[in-house]
Amino acid sequence: MNTHSQEVSRGERFGFGKNWKRFLQTLNEERICEAERSLGEMLQMGTLAGKSFLDVGSGSGLFSLAAMRLGADRVQSFDYDPQSVGCTKELKQRFFPQTDRWTIEEGSVLDASFLSRLGKFDIVYSWGVLHHTGKMWLALENVAERIQDGGILFVAIYNDQGKASRVWKTVKVLYNRSLAYRILITPLYLACMVAHGLALDLIGWNNPFSRYLKYPKRRGMSLWPDVVDWLGGYPFEVAEPDEITGFYKTRGFTLINSTLSKGGKGRGNNQYIFVKGFGSAQSLRESHRVAPESTNRSAVPQVSRA
Ligand SMILES: C[S@@+](CC[C@H](N)C(=O)[O-])C[C@H]1O[C@@H](n2cnc3c(N)ncnc32)[C@H](O)[C@@H]1O
Repeated sequence: MNTHSQEVSRGERFGFGKNWKRFLQTLNEERICEAERSLGEMLQMGTLAGKSFLDVGSGSGLFSLAAMRLGADRVQSFDYDPQSVGCTKELKQRFFPQTDRWTIEEGSVLDASFLSRLGKFDIVYSWGVLHHTGKMWLALENVAERIQDGGILFVAIYNDQGKASRVWKTVKVLYNRSLAYRILITPLYLACMVAHGLALDLIGWNNPFSRYLKYPKRRGMSLWPDVVDWLGGYPFEVAEPDEITGFYKTRGFTLINSTLSKGGKGRGNNQYIFVKGFGSAQSLRESHRVAPESTNRSAVPQVSRA
């Protein structure tokens, strides 16, 4: 049994890869296009031609696939969970079986020697990963070192909701502890989720089914794997937006785009795009073809999952 499996069987870590395998059964062209669209939109790039792309914690492999389809010169994916690595390899096999532009490995973002062997990249992407490592601040530091000067870092990190985040952490600990807790927690959560959604829809005069029908618009994701991912996702850490931006500012990064979960009040991921290197935000935006209006800290594509 490898270290990862031991951590999962001791309840110290959620087995994300098993859940991603489930997700791959629902993957279709619509979801892939949505993943591509959301990636290009956040990066403000219509193409990744000429860019190298590192996908840290690739999960299903969907965003590595999106980077390939956006024309990246080279994509490097890795994940700590062997089953996530298997999913990413499956997507390569399905969509780019012959290419040598896409490399997939098993490894941890906390392993400095593994990381330094990978070299540096134009774009480092780590969405919903670093807060699941158990050492989020070390992981944030490690990804920063993989970026070329002038390159881009795209990270998504759970928003800190104070007491509510501490409650969620307890839920996740219990969920990973035993099947009995999972059987108890899952229907309770589903009932609350449906009731909450219904109440919001009734108040807003919205079709109560449309939130479920439109679910693939959330980065191409699927509802049930996202529910499991949210309840199970452990280790679990959170950060306030100012903590993340301050952390990278002192390391010479400039924030050029961000979206906050429900305007900074949600429990989901805040997304941040930084450029490595000092310079005026204006000139950096221009060099990365980012319009000033797009630096919108409250226009949230409602990303509420891990
Ligand atoms: C919620 S998933 C996100 C997957 C993908 N980035 C996405 O946007 O859909 C988190 C992933 O991080 C991986 N992960 C957790 N700890 C890691 C580590 N130390 N190094 C690399 N990957 C890690 C998990 O195995 C899982 O596949």
